[in-house]
Amino acid sequence: MRYADLHQRSITDPNGFWMEQAQAIDWVTPPSKALFDEHAPLYEWFSDGMVNACWNALDRHIEAGNGDRIAVIHDSPVTNSITKLTYTEMRDRVAALAGALAAKGVTKGDRVIIYMPMVPEALMAMLACGRLGAIHSVVFGGFAAHELAVRINDAQPKCIIAGSCGIEPGRVVAYKPLLDGAISEATHKPDFTVILQRDALHADLVAGRDHDWAEFVRDAKPADCVPVEGNHPAYVLYTSGTTGQPKGVIRATGGHLVALQWTMKNIYDVDPGEVFWAASDVGWVVGHSYICYAPLIAGNTTIVFEGKPVGTPDAGTFWRVISEHKVKSFFTAPTAFRAVKREDPTGAFVGKYDLSCLKTVYLAGERADPDTIVWAQDQLKVPVVDHWWQTETGWPMAANPMGVEALPIKLGSPAVAMPGYDIHVLDEGGHPVSAGTLGAIAVKLPLPPGTLPTLWNAEARFRKSYLEQFPGYYATGDAGYMDEDGYVYIMARTDDVINVAGHRLSTGAMEEVLASHPDVAECAVIGVADDLKGQLPLGFLCLNKGATQTPENVVKDCIKLVRDQIGPVAAFKLAVVVDRLPKTRSGKILRATMAQIADSKPFKMPATIDDPIILDEIATGLKSLGYAKG
Ligand code: COA
Ligand code: AMP
Repeated sequence: MRYADLHQRSITDPNGFWMEQAQAIDWVTPPSKALFDEHAPLYEWFSDGMVNACWNALDRHIEAGNGDRIAVIHDSPVTNSITKLTYTEMRDRVAALAGALAAKGVTKGDRVIIYMPMVPEALMAMLACGRLGAIHSVVFGGFAAHELAVRINDAQPKCIIAGSCGIEPGRVVAYKPLLDGAISEATHKPDFTVILQRDALHADLVAGRDHDWAEFVRDAKPADCVPVEGNHPAYVLYTSGTTGQPKGVIRATGGHLVALQWTMKNIYDVDPGEVFWAASDVGWVVGHSYICYAPLIAGNTTIVFEGKPVGTPDAGTFWRVISEHKVKSFFTAPTAFRAVKREDPTGAFVGKYDLSCLKTVYLAGERADPDTIVWAQDQLKVPVVDHWWQTETGWPMAANPMGVEALPIKLGSPAVAMPGYDIHVLDEGGHPVSAGTLGAIAVKLPLPPGTLPTLWNAEARFRKSYLEQFPGYYATGDAGYMDEDGYVYIMARTDDVINVAGHRLSTGAMEEVLASHPDVAECAVIGVADDLKGQLPLGFLCLNKGATQTPENVVKDCIKLVRDQIGPVAAFKLAVVVDRLPKTRSGKILRATMAQIADSKPFKMPATIDDPIILDEIATGLKSLGYAKG
């Protein structure tokens, strides 16, 4: 079948199309229909079916006789170890953990926060929640205590499952003090925690509250899978918005299973038993969908990689893992390839490994610059497929459906709309623009299964953030254009979200932290272009009259504050003190203009600017940091 016909059908007959795809999932009670549109513009999928995510990810493969197949490979250059777990081993360990959680009162609908490094136990914790119908919320290990506390307050977990530490190149990151700090800062207190003690660092446990994972599961009675409604939340994943309060993206169980199952063959072209590797982190949506759920739902082998593209131990790590574990499809972020390319531009390491198993590479998380794609194609001699999606959607909005029909690759484009996504480019008034014209990228409602039905505890924010700007559409927050062939090109964000090394960060959240410094009167954070990470945050600070500290010390303090409050992942290392910020006459800070000056891009003087001279002062400040070179 031509992909274009498949896509057309998914738009004109969503019920028929998705009910067919739903047959690939084991239902306790099959849904009566796919789309539930009674509360439009809020939509749900498969709401009246009964299903269990863990059953579909593990048990059903064992029932089908594939229990000895490898489900998870933990490849950890930072601990120098490789561990393989079969589907049966995973199921047994997950059932035991679920049983122990149930014995402590965790039940369907309870929230469980998971704060763990890249170890198989992170997947076990997620799947144990799914087994019970509990709702997990994974928090990325690079976030600091305050960010964890914000999520604890919003999700109100009964339990937190954490690792004792993460291992970054050159340092062990003690998670437990961060967890303790977060619990003491949060107004909501979990009933108990479960701590995975790692050899690199054992954590001190609080008697009565903290449980050692190994003891916790020792005598547990294995739990069975609890059927849940198709619209029951499988998880809440917080992502950056425009303020310091992250958005809790809800993933409903039924649509999640159906959509992810569809993608593994049709986009990623892997069959059951084949090895798929997404080199991301379980704390991000890529990790949820393509390290944990999708490959397991589809019966693949997934790789949990605890390392970095470079330095663990060298720029050949990716190729070693692909070759050693026979990876067929590999998914990473462009920034990771840029890091490898910088250390090994001629691909000396590539030549050391037999990569004949590798058929396709997939890139997402940020714009894939053509140079990086061409470099990867030249080195690896396989198609390098850019694809575009976001936490909210849970799976690609635009991609090249390699398992259906390999479409021509156009550099700079993540290709075409995936099933159920009716992508349009709109002008400010919400009118579709012609091919090649820049605009806001929006998806006609309803979004397909697996995408967010709403935000956790924040339906009004959901409507305001995504549905109100263009009635009848979901506003993606990205801007770009489409060509005559329906290929989309993603050019920029339309909001204050920046993308640093494939990590989505809120400049607003950083500004809130900077503004809390007693000497800072006003501030702004912008994203500046960076060869390696795509973007880096850069802060402008205006100091109070009579500030107690020198400007240099305020800058140092502010850098430390962001690291302590948001976490090292914010990579906030650039800040400069300026007298004033450029604003419109109505007082709006001209962040986009400052970013254009920083990147030495031509810009139009905003007609509404209050005082153009300030831009010269901004340029001087930027030059002192090596930007705005002219
Ligand atoms: N726990 C604790 N700290 C973490 C962390 C974690 N899980 N992940 C990152 N950090 C820290 C890093 O150690 C670093 O700290 P530092 O300032 O002390 O050096 C900081 O957060 C910034 O990390 P990062 O942005 O990852 O930069 P890096 O210099 O360590 O590595 C890359 C650069 C490009 C190699 C790395 O960013 C990378 O592999 N990116 C791929 C991103 C990705 O897969 N994204 C998922 C979307 S698909
Ligand atoms: P996240 O929610 O962290 O996955 O970040 C999603 C955002 O990352 C998107 O809204 C885009 O801004 C950006 N993004 C993801 N994939 C791509 C891509 N292939 N090309 C351009 N931008 C992308």
